[in-house]
Amino acid sequence: MCGIVGYAGFRNVSDFLLEGLHRLEYRGYDSAGIAVLSETGIDVRKRAGRVTELGMLIESQPIPGSVGIGHTRWATHGEPTDVNSHPHFGGSGEVAVVHNGVIENYDSLRKQLQQLGYVFRSQTDTEVAAHLLAHHLNEQIRLEGLGGSGEEGLDTDLCLKAVEATLARLKGTYGLAILFRECPGTLIAARCGSPLVIGIGENESFLASDASPLVGYTKEVVYLSDNEIAVLSQSALRIEHRHTGKVRPSIQTLSQVNSDIELNGFPHYMLKEIYEQPQTVENALRGRLDSEEATAVMGGLNLSAKELRRIDRIVLTACGTSWHAGLVGEYLLEEFARMPTEVEYASELRYRNPPMSDRTLVFAITQSGETADTLAAMRECKRKGHPTLAICNVVGSSIAREADGGIYLHAGPEIGVASTKAFTSQVTVLTLLALYFARMRHMSFPTGQRIIKQLRNMPEMIQKTLECHDKVREVADRYYHFNNYLYLGRLYNFPVALEGALKLKEISYIHAEGYPAAEMKHGPIALVDEQTPSVFIIPRGAIYSKVISNMEEIRARRGPVIAIACEGDLDVARIADEVIYVPEVEEYLQPLVCAIPLQLLSYHIALLRGCNVDRPRNLAKSVTVE
Ligand code: F6R
Repeated sequence: MCGIVGYAGFRNVSDFLLEGLHRLEYRGYDSAGIAVLSETGIDVRKRAGRVTELGMLIESQPIPGSVGIGHTRWATHGEPTDVNSHPHFGGSGEVAVVHNGVIENYDSLRKQLQQLGYVFRSQTDTEVAAHLLAHHLNEQIRLEGLGGSGEEGLDTDLCLKAVEATLARLKGTYGLAILFRECPGTLIAARCGSPLVIGIGENESFLASDASPLVGYTKEVVYLSDNEIAVLSQSALRIEHRHTGKVRPSIQTLSQVNSDIELNGFPHYMLKEIYEQPQTVENALRGRLDSEEATAVMGGLNLSAKELRRIDRIVLTACGTSWHAGLVGEYLLEEFARMPTEVEYASELRYRNPPMSDRTLVFAITQSGETADTLAAMRECKRKGHPTLAICNVVGSSIAREADGGIYLHAGPEIGVASTKAFTSQVTVLTLLALYFARMRHMSFPTGQRIIKQLRNMPEMIQKTLECHDKVREVADRYYHFNNYLYLGRLYNFPVALEGALKLKEISYIHAEGYPAAEMKHGPIALVDEQTPSVFIIPRGAIYSKVISNMEEIRARRGPVIAIACEGDLDVARIADEVIYVPEVEEYLQPLVCAIPLQLLSYHIALLRGCNVDRPRNLAKSVTVE
């Protein structure tokens, strides 16, 4: 979703802001803009469309200066137009603002401000914040008896007071970056529910909504918490909490490196990330397999063995792809650890009130750590006293920081909007978790050892799976023109079917539905005809022959069948129109290999249909609004 970048220092700020906005493109956006503060005032360049187009505008109308803010907008209030793009001016240009999040009471504030004579140019909620800031700044100037700013400009404290007075009137979520025309060399940031990270450099300070624009510029970062306001300048960083006063910044080290956010020779991030999976699964396993004890090592749960043994139910909550990983986790935890487990859509859980005893442990599963619904569901569970842990990729994200503990994926930045490597890492971590809980309860030592051995082998199995790429490309060539797809699988492969269908619809805009294969005859089979291919996930396993029967039912109705099957499976080859082979692994590990041809299939179909695979329409990488 929207992205923020800011800078105060000595560089030509437009260059830094543009590069930062390019790095934030993966989040999804429809317009972009920057504002630069200089001796002559604040200059803004903004437009609907891509950052490259904004770059052309800035090239033809450059704005010199070394303090500024930038934004990529994902429209919520008002269409993606030049006027609705951020930054927005407040008052008569004394303030410029960029904003992530949603100001829920914008309508009533807008009316109040209009009555005071403020003129609105856009339809955005953000412009309310801009005018409020100008309004409170002018109030402060009046109260302090300043007739206008002198040569030195305004005192930062005065601007800070205006920010505090403004924030007190806002309801909703915000990450704000603000420039005051009369406050040279300074930018102010504020956070409530929308992430902001500050980078500390030598004689320069950076700001962004996630760490990617800072990579290569600094390794020292400070994550702002809710209700904190930061004042950034070339030489200083000051942080205040709105209610408790001055905050000592907690400086952390940024581990991301440039190559994490570069394409490294791949045509798209999605393909790069699909190919990273042998490595990312290895990263998720690293240091977490204990052969001597035949269990997993889960250092960050922050719960003692005694506390964990008390747990008698697990709730996994997530959205989208992470929710699909949760479904695999449910099967794993119930089968291995005999632990009753439920998977809840975070958007439902946050408003539902299911009975949960004090022995219920909650896991929020999230790649970004910023998904608004997952964060809210997690907070709701915490409020009710449940230990609430995170399975998360982004270090320092809101969910990672607010959870009582958790497990990082260590998958590196996922930039393609369609989640790929995060899914397999989440499934890997959930497998480790199931092993850990199982070994605490009843699983035998030899079984634990067998699982560890199989897990160690998975990076190699995933590498081998990638050999199906050529075949997948051929299948995509033959099938990309179909407009409806069914994805069918059973047991561990049912969530994989859901995930395959989601991948196809989100990047190629083809209608696709995932179903448990046997459920198909209770309704969806009515859709089957020559124009509706079914993708069967049918590696060998306990109910393999039952899935074969489901496949026959589709063929009997002339539905084309694409099968994902184990190497050398000729029975499937006799029935299906196309077979994509994957290596044979234990049933509980099949999602880790079967997801990969489905990721590749959606990638190639989307390319053949001329879609932007890394930045599909209407989607955002981290969904920070409700
Ligand atoms: C699908 C996809 C989304 C995310 C969902 C949750 O490819 O990326 O469905 O999985 O928005 O995001 P996180 O995992 O960041 O909470």
